[in-house]
Amino acid sequence: MKKSRILFAIVVLAVFLTNCTNKSDDYIDPRGTDYAGSESCIQCHQAQFDLASHSSHFKATAPASLENVLGSFSKGNHVFTYDKNTKLVMEKRNDSLYQVLYKDGKEVEAHPYDIVFGVKHAQTGAFWKNYYTYELPISYYHSLNSWGTSPGYPTDKPFFNREIAKECYACHSSNIGSRYITTTSDKVNTMAMEAESFMDKNTLIYGIDCERCHGPAKEHVKTHLKFPDLKTAKNIVSIKGLSRQQRLDACAICHSGNDKIKLKSRFQFKPGESLNDYFRATPSSNDSLHFDVHGNQFGLLAQSKCFQKSEVMDCMTCHNPHENSPSNLATYSKICMSCHQDLKHNETTLKTMSGSLLANNCVECHMPKKTSNAISFKLSNNKQLSNYILRTHKIGIYPTNKK
Ligand code: HEC
Ligand code: HEC
Ligand code: HEC
Ligand code: HEC
Ligand code: HEC
Ligand code: HEC
Ligand code: HEC
Repeated sequence: MKKSRILFAIVVLAVFLTNCTNKSDDYIDPRGTDYAGSESCIQCHQAQFDLASHSSHFKATAPASLENVLGSFSKGNHVFTYDKNTKLVMEKRNDSLYQVLYKDGKEVEAHPYDIVFGVKHAQTGAFWKNYYTYELPISYYHSLNSWGTSPGYPTDKPFFNREIAKECYACHSSNIGSRYITTTSDKVNTMAMEAESFMDKNTLIYGIDCERCHGPAKEHVKTHLKFPDLKTAKNIVSIKGLSRQQRLDACAICHSGNDKIKLKSRFQFKPGESLNDYFRATPSSNDSLHFDVHGNQFGLLAQSKCFQKSEVMDCMTCHNPHENSPSNLATYSKICMSCHQDLKHNETTLKTMSGSLLANNCVECHMPKKTSNAISFKLSNNKQLSNYILRTHKIGIYPTNKK
């Protein structure tokens, strides 16, 4: 027993040392030998890498380092009060961050931030316990620059037992493998063999990386390293060359809600495949009145006349897949106008708006912000629920609002 352990240690050390000396050659991707890892793309695709590595996609999950965790951990703004006896405090202890529960001033339990989910509108933390991850009860909300209860958690008292299952990682990361436990000493042994949701920490690839969208690229890298003069891409799916539906599906795999019956894991999806092989619709996923602004950009866009009546519109009409959506809304007006040159608003509409709004902000009126029905949260010491607000992707005519 001891001998084999020492041997194991030597093997680990050897693997570690070769990794250090010969990084890119010996990189082993947890997804398998046909994957090359994002680092390997830099040498030939610096421009795409520079953009993508700063995108929300790359940070959709991240290790909970001091720089990745959002929200205040310092005095004045780091306490969430449930009631006069119950407080949750965001604390920095040594180099780690924690959420600590206090009852009547006494510490009851403390859980670390191990992983963070999300970056643009909100961020939630997760911690590891027995091969599972659990959500921390308080999340950070950008719109209010404040802490609030995590989605799906009770708002009146703290819990630490909401599992963050593989499902979440399938949209927020590039890989997480299963872990099967076989030792008889393990309490949970009997179920362990089938328990898909046991997760293997070491196989987690944070964020949505190049190959999550482009599919395995090891052969592509090998070929182009071998033939540096090749100008046309080899051994990689050209998303540009796919049909409109295939291009849409490459985004809709994660951007069309989560209420369908799953036939296969999202992790297996590669560009060019069809969503129909991954999901079967349920009554709720056909209930188009209730598509939520959170998580279902595809469903909403598909309800728009722009989408239905044009043959080319897809997500890339307005988004660079390597970049965050521009926050300057005038950018989108140019795109709208590329199809709507002959645009004429009626007299009443023209009267109610300034010329500059009309020219620069189609989105404000035709893709207004809407409240999510799927997510709401509570702020500290607050009785009311706060809304989670996102822009709808159903481009249409809405009653003109205040602005
Ligand atoms: C040794 C150079 C090299 C490396 C490394 C490399 N590529 Fe490429 N790649 C190319 C060349 C050359 C092309 C064709 C010209 C172009 O589109 O830039 C290309 C094109 C592509 C395309 C466009 C395909 C198309 O036809 O639309 C994608 C996507 C792509 N590469 C992804 C990757 C990813 C992901 C990685 C890292 C895992 C990677 N590449 C690593 C050389 C390389
Ligand atoms: C593997 C799942 C997955 C795929 C595939 C995917 N997305 Fe996303 N996307 C996400 C998640 C998760 C977020 C939220 C990231 C965050 O803020 O933490 C996101 C965020 C975004 C954002 C907002 C980014 C910002 O900060 O402005 C845009 C725009 C977007 N995706 C467009 C696309 C497009 C276009 C495609 C297809 C080319 C695509 N996504 C494919 C999961 C995915
Ligand atoms: C079907 C894919 C999908 C699943 C499953 C999913 N998410 Fe998301 N999530 C998204 C997308 C897409 C966004 C960003 C755009 C939006 O809100 O529509 C997002 C946004 C978020 C955000 C806010 C980030 C931001 O800035 O917009 C957090 C936090 C988050 N998800 C956590 C989770 C957790 C925790 C789970 C599991 C309980 C989960 N998500 C499951 C796709 C998914
Ligand atoms: C969210 C999904 C997504 C991610 C992540 C992503 N790409 Fe792309 N990439 C696309 C799509 C979609 C296209 C096709 C764009 C089009 O048709 O306009 C594309 C196009 C490309 C192209 C062709 C040239 C171009 O810019 O259009 C290259 C090269 C490329 N990607 C490399 C990369 C590399 C390298 C990474 C990682 C650093 C990466 N991509 C990450 C979705 C993605
Ligand atoms: C790829 C071309 C294309 C783009 C880009 C585009 N549209 Fe459209 N849009 C159309 C077409 C085609 C119609 C249908 C016209 C018809 O029915 O005669 C339409 C219809 C509309 C309508 C009428 C909707 C209704 O329900 O009656 C509005 C409003 C509109 N577009 C606004 C916008 C805005 C705002 C943008 C930018 C965010 C935009 N469009 C971008 C092609 C486009
Ligand atoms: C006609 C233009 C247009 C098209 C087409 C389009 N989007 Fe967007 N998208 C926008 C605008 C405008 C925003 C909001 C930007 C803002 O408010 O900062 C946005 C924001 C987003 C966000 C961030 C959510 C938020 O509210 O911050 C995601 C995710 C996203 N788009 C995904 C997609 C996906 C996936 C597709 C394809 C199914 C798609 N978009 C097609 C215009 C478009
Ligand atoms: C202040 C709000 C507002 C702004 C800004 C705005 N619209 Fe509209 N739009 C409306 C309203 C209201 C209608 C319906 C009544 C009408 O036709 O005037 C409409 C109608 C439309 C239609 C359908 C008209 C038709 O012929 O069927 C299109 C297309 C459209 N807008 C596109 C745009 C584009 C593109 C922009 C940006 C350049 C824009 N709108 C800016 C409020 C707005």
